[in-house]
Amino acid sequence: MEIRKVGVVGCGLMGSGIAEVCARAGYSVIVREVNEELLQKGLARIHKSLATAAAKGKITQEEATQAWARIHGTMSLADFSGCDLVVEAAVENMTLKKEVFAELDGILAPHAILASNTSSLCVTEMAGATRRGDKVLGIHFFNPVPVMPLIEFVRTILTSDDTMAAARQFGASLGKTMVTAKDTPGFIVNRLLIPYVLDAVRVYEEGLATREDIDTAIKLGLNHPMGPLTLLDFVGLDTCLFIADAMFDEYKDRRYAAPPLLRRMVLAGQLGRKSGKGFYDYQ
Ligand code: 3HC
Repeated sequence: MEIRKVGVVGCGLMGSGIAEVCARAGYSVIVREVNEELLQKGLARIHKSLATAAAKGKITQEEATQAWARIHGTMSLADFSGCDLVVEAAVENMTLKKEVFAELDGILAPHAILASNTSSLCVTEMAGATRRGDKVLGIHFFNPVPVMPLIEFVRTILTSDDTMAAARQFGASLGKTMVTAKDTPGFIVNRLLIPYVLDAVRVYEEGLATREDIDTAIKLGLNHPMGPLTLLDFVGLDTCLFIADAMFDEYKDRRYAAPPLLRRMVLAGQLGRKSGKGFYDYQ
């Protein structure tokens, strides 16, 4: 099956990155947001990212212009009717995702593939909202999408070999390296990342070291690009808490239990970079 037109549901940090890499790979892209303000904000993020990539010489100005011309915004899922693949990158809310999947199932052609970029929710449950379970899978991108070289595919017990083959072809066309995981909370990356970042918060909460020393230790001692508290701020404390809670809910294992400090920081609106303050100050 040839994928020519890609739909992206959501134009937030992940959705805009996914739309950008698809357009850069030559796909015609339609991206949907729930209101005009969020749509314009998301499209502006893509425009800026393409301009930065061109200014740094990663792509030519001509390629940036062409990629931008391939992207169209909408507020209606009905405009996705010609898509061969849709990647859902809406907020992490199962009720909402199931509604989106059910609606798209009625709009898309029978051959079209439906994917979710969820970081922790059950892809099988989303497939259950459609009548095309064999054409549903998880395609999990990493932030920042244009930079991170990995895609994690999530295969449910319903996903067909043909769907996996088409997804692999799509991933390769984006220039990404691909891994495949079963549909279990956290898949591969977050299954290992979440206990690690939660432990970093516990270490900080216990007063074992300063936040700077925890981050410096990991950055220079293990050669990670970011220390764990900086990474929490980068991904968003609310996002990490949401994933941890979903994993704890499934496994009931204390490794995934969020430390009290993390929950309280989220309750206090200290979400990391996006709110201007997390473990560090970004104002
Ligand atoms: N969009 C496009 N390009 C970006 C970017 C963005 N948002 N942010 C950084 N870049 C590019 C820069 O342009 C630069 O390119 P260049 O080297 O060709 O000039 C390159 O990335 C490096 O950026 P900087 O020099 O500004 O800064 P750093 O060297 O600190 O790199 C980073 C930034 C790439 C974000 C790096 O710190 C990093 O890899 N951090 C870890 C990121 C990570 O772990 N992401 C995964 C999070 S988990 C996740 O997403 C899963 C979810 O389910 C939770």
